[in-house]
Amino acid sequence: MPEVRRERLAQISDDIRGCRACVLHEGTRQAVPGEGNPDAEIMLIGEAPGQNEDVQGRPFVGASGQFLTEMLRQNGLRREDVFIANVVKHRPPSNRDPLPDEIEACASFLSRQIQAIDPLVIITLGRFSLARFFPGEKISQIHGQPRKIGGRTVIPLYHPAAALHQGALRKVLEADFATVPGIVDIARQAAGRTPRPPVPARADDPVQQAFGLLDPGADGPTGERHRSAPDDAPAPAPRPPRQLPLL
Ligand code: URA
Repeated sequence: MPEVRRERLAQISDDIRGCRACVLHEGTRQAVPGEGNPDAEIMLIGEAPGQNEDVQGRPFVGASGQFLTEMLRQNGLRREDVFIANVVKHRPPSNRDPLPDEIEACASFLSRQIQAIDPLVIITLGRFSLARFFPGEKISQIHGQPRKIGGRTVIPLYHPAAALHQGALRKVLEADFATVPGIVDIARQAAGRTPRPPVPARADDPVQQAFGLLDPGADGPTGERHRSAPDDAPAPAPRPPRQLPLL
């Protein structure tokens, strides 16, 4: 099955590269079909390639991509374990919003990618991806709330680029992202799969700290125990000697 998935995805990528169904391909260097693990349990779907993606032919490789990769890492997920794609596969000129006919022209490619990968969980990033799964709904009202759609769990999240530009949204996106591992575990259990290993505890991880994911007694990845107090904190007072019971 993994081999079949790989072949199917390669075929879809070839079809995307050869697509001339809308005008978008005209001003671009290349298509950006998507990339990642063909057997991924998690698929993330963004909006459309930007300039860096157009140059490299890979999704989410600019500033918002770095932020996305970092959020994955902070939550115990590796970019190479997920699959990342976009609603639209060629860069719209000057990064304008994709038009309805351009989204429509790419729709079957995205459907085929979802079918081939068959992910347990889909994460939508931003409003164009949201619109495909939650038509007519608003990201401000449903962000971070997973829903079962067509047998999969779909989590609507803000787009990393929007979060990078607005400090308040960044906190919301990071908070929503921190719930992803738990949602994936629930989806895994519902599908009869064994739970993933726990998220490794990292004492310097603000997201894990903020969401209480750190077990203060657990060893970190370096084998060192977490410090419960900073180095220059006063040493705890010595315990008074135990009183021996009077006989
Ligand atoms: N924004 C997206 O939606 N997709 C990318 O690939 C890069 C930025």
